[in-house]
Amino acid sequence: MTTRIGPLKRALEDIRTAHHRDPAARSAFVIAVSYQGVHALWHHRVAHWLWNHGLKTYGRLWSQYARSKTGIEIHPGASIGRRVFIDHGMGVVIGETAVVGNDVLLFHGVTLGGTTMSPGKRHPTIGDRVVIGAGAKVLGAVHVGSDARIGANAVLVKDVPDGATAVGIPAVVREHPDYIEAYTAASAVDSGDSHRHPDPDAIPESREPAMYYI
Ligand SMILES: CC(C)(COP(=O)(O)OP(=O)(O)OC[C@H]1O[C@@H](n2cnc3c(N)ncnc32)[C@H](O)[C@@H]1OP(=O)(O)O)[C@@H](O)C(=O)NCCC(=O)NCCS
Repeated sequence: MTTRIGPLKRALEDIRTAHHRDPAARSAFVIAVSYQGVHALWHHRVAHWLWNHGLKTYGRLWSQYARSKTGIEIHPGASIGRRVFIDHGMGVVIGETAVVGNDVLLFHGVTLGGTTMSPGKRHPTIGDRVVIGAGAKVLGAVHVGSDARIGANAVLVKDVPDGATAVGIPAVVREHPDYIEAYTAASAVDSGDSHRHPDPDAIPESREPAMYYI
C-alpha cells in the first residue's frame, strides 16, 4: 500500500524523481522552475482534487490551462501514482479513466487513450515501474503489467504481462533478454523446449530500470 504524504513533500519527491531519472538534470531549482513534465503532475493534482470534489468543470478548466502551459494533457479524472516522471513531455495525452502506477516513466508523445466513445473504463491501466517510449500509443482498457517496457512509437492494443517488452505496430511482446540468457543456459543441458520454461534461478529477480535518453 502506498503511504500518503502531504502536497509539499510530494512536490519535493517529484523533484527528486526527476533528478534521479534524468541524467541531464543539473539542479533541483532548474527542475522546479522549468520541467514541464513535473509541472503537469502538479497541475494534475489540483485538477484531480477539484474533479473528485464535485467541481468537475473547474477540474477540466484547470487541466486545459495546464495543457496550454505544459503541452501535456492529463484528464482530471485520471489516476496517477507516486514518483511518475514525464520526460520531455510535449504531446503526452492521458485519458479520463487511465490509471498509472508508481515509478512509471513516460516520454514525450505517449498517448494513454481510448478506442470507444462509450463512457466507462476505456483507457489503459499501467502497472508500477513501467517505461513507455517516446510516441507510443497505448489504446483501450488494456493492462500493462508492472516492470513492462513499451518501445518507442509502438501501438499497443493488447495486455502486456509483467516484465515484458512490447514493440512495433501493433505491438507484440518480445522475450526479455534475461529470459533468452536463461534459455541459452538451460538449452546447454536440455535441447528440448526448456526455453518455454526458463530456469527461474537463472532469471534475475530485479534489474535496474533501463534508461533511454537522447
Ligand atoms: C523497447 C526498448 C525498451 C527495448 O530496449 P532493449 O531491451 O535494449 O532492446 P534492444 O534495443 O536490444 O532491441 C531488441 C529488439 O527489439 C527491437 N526494437 C527495440 N526497440 C524497438 C522499437 N521501439 N520499435 C520496434 N522495434 C524495436 C530491436 O530492433 C531488436 O530487434 P531484433 O531482436 O530483431 O534485433 C527500447 O528499444 C525503447 O524503445 N525504449 C524507449 C526509448 C525512448 O523512447 N527514448 C526516448 C528518449 S528521448
